[in-house]
Amino acid sequence: MNSKDVIEAWKLFSAEFDFDNLSKNEYYADMFDRFESEVLYSLIRKENIKNILEFSPNLGWTSFVMKEALVDGYYKNKSQAILNSFDIMCASQTLDEHSAIVERNLRIGDVRNTISPYPKNDVDLLFIDCEHSYEFASWYCQWVIPLMEKGCIIWIHDWDKYEDDKGEPKAVKEQLIEKGILKPIINLMDYTIENFDNDSSRKYTGPRGVRSPSQILIKVK
Ligand SMILES: C[S@@+](CC[C@H](N)C(=O)[O-])C[C@H]1O[C@@H](n2cnc3c(N)ncnc32)[C@H](O)[C@@H]1O
Repeated sequence: MNSKDVIEAWKLFSAEFDFDNLSKNEYYADMFDRFESEVLYSLIRKENIKNILEFSPNLGWTSFVMKEALVDGYYKNKSQAILNSFDIMCASQTLDEHSAIVERNLRIGDVRNTISPYPKNDVDLLFIDCEHSYEFASWYCQWVIPLMEKGCIIWIHDWDKYEDDKGEPKAVKEQLIEKGILKPIINLMDYTIENFDNDSSRKYTGPRGVRSPSQILIKVK
């Protein structure tokens, strides 16, 4: 998978995700913008993703986006999808579902304590928008990423904000990228700056303007 695949997925599937209407729901907390929501939805559809770990949903918007994609993709995959979400907050528990189409579970508590016994199946996507400290990122670099299979997609949100000596990107770069374990695929913030800022025909108007601080990586080793 490369950056072109991600953008191709967005072009193919984003029209099926009605951000304007859906973001009026109770799960939306204005922390994840239109472009990111559309790309997250589209990538799950295009890559036939069926098994997701999420740290963390807060009110539930990112869980909601992923669940929509898993349900819409079911008719192609024809097998049950799994979304295991972890948060200290319980607000998104109303999204829990146990059906033939999707199994969504919210585990409440510090993910460092509640992660066990997960992951117990092959995870296709590890979505991370949690605590952005160096310490927390070092925990998942050491204890979670090694459990992921080669090819697993890792989505890290708020990458730009913590691009300093103490932050999450530093831990990920030092402990995973520089060791050839994860390969960066696309930085959505850079993509929007390069492609949307001067494109008046697109009239891009996310809730916070162009703000897509997501880094997508893939496990290569
Ligand atoms: C930025 S919010 C997530 C926003 C959400 N993805 C969205 O788009 O609306 C970060 C969440 O991480 C949770 N969190 C922080 N540290 C955590 C930890 N150690 N274990 C579990 N959840 C944690 C917080 O409770 C918060 O809900």
